[in-house]
Amino acid sequence: MVGENMNSKVAAAPANPGAPGPTYQEIVLSDSVRAPDGGVPEVLAPVRNVSLGTADISFERYISEDFFRREMQHVWSKVWQFACREEQINGVGDYFVYDIGSYSLVILRTEAGLKAYHNSCLHRGTKLKPSGTTGWTGDMVQCPFHGWTWNLDGTLREVPCDWEFDHLDYKANRLPEAQVSVWNSLVFVNMDLNAAPLEDYLEVMPAHFKNWWSYEEWRTRVHVQKILSCNWKTAQEAFMEAYHTPVVHPEMTKVVGDWNMQHDIFGPHTSRDLCPMAVSSPSKHHGMSEQDLLEGRLTRSVHDTSTAAIPTGETARSVIARRMRDDFLRDYEKDLSDLSDAEILDSLKYNVFPNLFVYGGPGLPQIHQVRPLGNDPHSCLFDIYVLEPLRPGEDRGDPVQMVQITESDSYKDVPGISEMNGLVLDQDTQILRWQHEGMRASHKGAETLSGYQESRIRHLHNTLDAYLASDQARE
Ligand code: FES
Ligand SMILES: [Fe+2]
Repeated sequence: MVGENMNSKVAAAPANPGAPGPTYQEIVLSDSVRAPDGGVPEVLAPVRNVSLGTADISFERYISEDFFRREMQHVWSKVWQFACREEQINGVGDYFVYDIGSYSLVILRTEAGLKAYHNSCLHRGTKLKPSGTTGWTGDMVQCPFHGWTWNLDGTLREVPCDWEFDHLDYKANRLPEAQVSVWNSLVFVNMDLNAAPLEDYLEVMPAHFKNWWSYEEWRTRVHVQKILSCNWKTAQEAFMEAYHTPVVHPEMTKVVGDWNMQHDIFGPHTSRDLCPMAVSSPSKHHGMSEQDLLEGRLTRSVHDTSTAAIPTGETARSVIARRMRDDFLRDYEKDLSDLSDAEILDSLKYNVFPNLFVYGGPGLPQIHQVRPLGNDPHSCLFDIYVLEPLRPGEDRGDPVQMVQITESDSYKDVPGISEMNGLVLDQDTQILRWQHEGMRASHKGAETLSGYQESRIRHLHNTLDAYLASDQARE
């Protein structure tokens, strides 16, 4: 089984030895509101990183059609992967089509819960629902070609001109299923019917996210999708390190840590980075005062944007965290008093192999999904969900419409995406095209990763290799 060896390799180790500036743990320990015992909150305390090697990683893994084919065959068809938010298929009969490579699943809600069916008619193969669609299918799934019809539970209901199909075994022609399971309002699918349950796959995620309120108490405010001109791993890896921040996002270095971000690896499927906000980057010598940090903050209060002098003994982090506690109580009746400043302010970004980034804490409520587009190793789909809390008893309402933008469109023009978030995403998506093109133009043919800050990129490739090896061994 993938990962037991890898788990044993991951042990506690100091965060980024040699990096300038304070460690993430030191920053949290200097906050005003910490754990009840005065220490780092239990969920943020684990420091889990160890060298996974130093060998260069071949660009073939990003650009080769053969490698991509192997990923599809041995990885994407075997792993749990995030498909959609549960709110997108809230009512009985609601469906969502999830595509990955040539595979396609219709995920739908029945009286008995969620089902995921392979999106191919048992008559002559037509897709039962077009790719990229979501909607309501009523109490049946009907093929758009000749009208074969299934009940929501997958049993075959009707075949037109049934007198011509005496040879058809109705019972055997129920829709073939994939596994579907929900964690924290996120719907996951797995085409391998023998795969272990989702909760095992998710490793630390359920335990860690218990510290923050359930994503079921949030609704999607913005869902935006962009096609990126790079391999799916290239896109993910830009969100697994902040080594590039001083060059690609110089605006952020005044108010966000980067080289001192903490990277933890928990098991084959899960890792995280903890990025301090309202501190300046150790990569630049901005000489920012606490007052400067307050005025330049990225995480901010909606109501109290004042830049009045920071009271003696307080920091920008403590002022911003206090204002956010006030905001959440006022706007959403959410009491954040049991959360530390760090949990409220910082970017606590978790990665679940192979396609999900999900943020803990209330400060940056976003979900990112990155997956291959069709069978092209040179492009991928990047979905961003921006969430907002529901008030107690508030109905979630209809799901928001997904906004599709082209590669050259700016995220800044998407309603609900903040100016700074849009700028950063534009900078990232621009550099990804250049990186992927450069991989194809490379004479060296491989990348040389840093030991700590890019360790989770190596971790991703190790997990990929473990799936490729374990599955091929069975062939
Ligand atoms: S292909 Fe589906 S009914 Fe004919
Ligand atoms: Fe970036």
